[in-house]
Amino acid sequence: MNFQDMSFETSCFNIGQLPAPEGAEIVFSGRSNVGKSTMINKLASRKNLARVSSAPGKTASINFYRCGGLRLADLPGYGFAKVSRAEKLRWAELVEGYIAAGRPITLVIQLVDVRRAPTDDDMDMIKFLASRGVDFIVAETKCDKLGAGESDSRRAKAAPEAGVSPKKVVFFSSKTGEGVEELRKLITEHVE
Ligand code: GTP
Ligand code: MG
Repeated sequence: MNFQDMSFETSCFNIGQLPAPEGAEIVFSGRSNVGKSTMINKLASRKNLARVSSAPGKTASINFYRCGGLRLADLPGYGFAKVSRAEKLRWAELVEGYIAAGRPITLVIQLVDVRRAPTDDDMDMIKFLASRGVDFIVAETKCDKLGAGESDSRRAKAAPEAGVSPKKVVFFSSKTGEGVEELRKLITEHVE
């Protein structure tokens, strides 16, 4: 799999706009600002392929990227306080509709901030994925922001807090490159 081969495909604001299923889909899910778009850029070794938000909560669409026969889906982030109830409902309809649409979703990468315990929204998402029988892993992002003193204890708590096995957790940093190769390998293994 050549991750450098990635290109933007389309943005979907409702499930009617989803592209026809074609090849495996890898999904990036998580709170707004947790680093989904940054992770996609890092996997592709690019700076501006996926737009990194300066204003969180701005990504209201599922953005699809192509990489050979593979599709990557950058989900709109959740948990942003300044979003109206109508926007939240639209988000749920879009994201839940997409996950439940019977598409060839091979793996969901659920991002959480390594510095904090998963939020209620994170846990709802993790439970939803588990209830749908979707294969997912948890990526703990922004590991570069952990101080030396707290690093080991935060990392040790990550899997239990998310209610998953330690095997399902990848530690990631877009700054240091930690976890990038591991994620590429995991994605490749899931697709083959
Ligand atoms: P939405 O599109 O709003 O859902 O957000 P997102 O999850 O796509 O987050 P995005 O990739 O836009 O990143 C948000 C901010 O976090 C940006 O300022 C990034 O530069 C920063 N960021 C992302 N990953 C990391 C990381 O591993 N380390 C550090 N230090 N900053 C990061
Ligand atoms: Mg984004």
